[in-house]
Amino acid sequence: MAYQNLLFDIADGIGTVAVNRPKALNALNTETLRELQRALQELENNPEVQVVILTGVGDRSFIAGADISEMRDMNSLEAIRFSKLGHTTLDQIERLGKVVIAAVNGFALGGGTEIALACDFIFASENAKFGQPEVTLGVFPGFGGTQRLPRSIGKARAKELIFTGAMISAEEARDFGIVNRVFPAESLVEETRRVAKKIASNGPIAVQLAKASVDRGYDVPLREGCHMEAVAFGACFTTMDQKEGMTAFLEKRKPRFKGK
Ligand code: CAA
Repeated sequence: MAYQNLLFDIADGIGTVAVNRPKALNALNTETLRELQRALQELENNPEVQVVILTGVGDRSFIAGADISEMRDMNSLEAIRFSKLGHTTLDQIERLGKVVIAAVNGFALGGGTEIALACDFIFASENAKFGQPEVTLGVFPGFGGTQRLPRSIGKARAKELIFTGAMISAEEARDFGIVNRVFPAESLVEETRRVAKKIASNGPIAVQLAKASVDRGYDVPLREGCHMEAVAFGACFTTMDQKEGMTAFLEKRKPRFKGK
């Protein structure tokens, strides 16, 4: 499928989607969000793909937020629609039956931080910058930032970032728990692919159920979450991969998972 605003690649069980609007520092306009939804659906439907890496083209920016030139003249209804388009895209990332890693290679501002937070985890380059600068534009985060950021780093820290609009470095973002790991810019892609390959070598159904178990269990009481975990754990035992994984261990060889 052809994309005007994305680079799209599948190799070694890893799908890579890179927002490709470097002249606008990879800002997200409506067209790009729609293409992202199509790309995510294509990756969801492809059984070869187990891990998705989301990044930005170039060495300056991951995603510098929603497109300000498109938003400037929006009326209220158009802004609601735009916000909802962002929400459905981020929801699609969160619910994808594949692991999604954000490789943040520069500015992740506004919608950039928000989309990264919807991924399963974030790796960043040393020059990455995170922030919610929307209040400097007379608006506030509209792609879930007021919801996911407090859940990620706590209410008080999230409020400080959202109310000041200040940028933080990759190191600070790691200290806050937004970012898992920080790499020199030149090794971000390679290190992200290394971890993606490790995940892709594991039982695909087990990884998918583990993602759902963490995410679905996160918002419910512990007892409820543990019950959901037990049911999903049981579901693993209906798969050929569980028999293969445990047999391979006992036969002291590498498993050959089939995703069945
Ligand atoms: N939307 C549209 N265009 C953008 C953009 C954005 N979010 N961010 C950068 N650009 C464009 C600039 O307009 C500029 O275009 P021209 O060359 O045509 O003038 C080009 O990208 C390069 O940007 P700068 O010249 O500004 O580069 P810089 O190095 O001086 O600054 C920056 C980099 C600090 C990231 C600065 O571009 C910036 O502050 N960008 C806006 C960041 C922002 O406020 N993001 C939040 C958007 S609102 C949002 O996301 C709402 C939401 O939650 C849904």
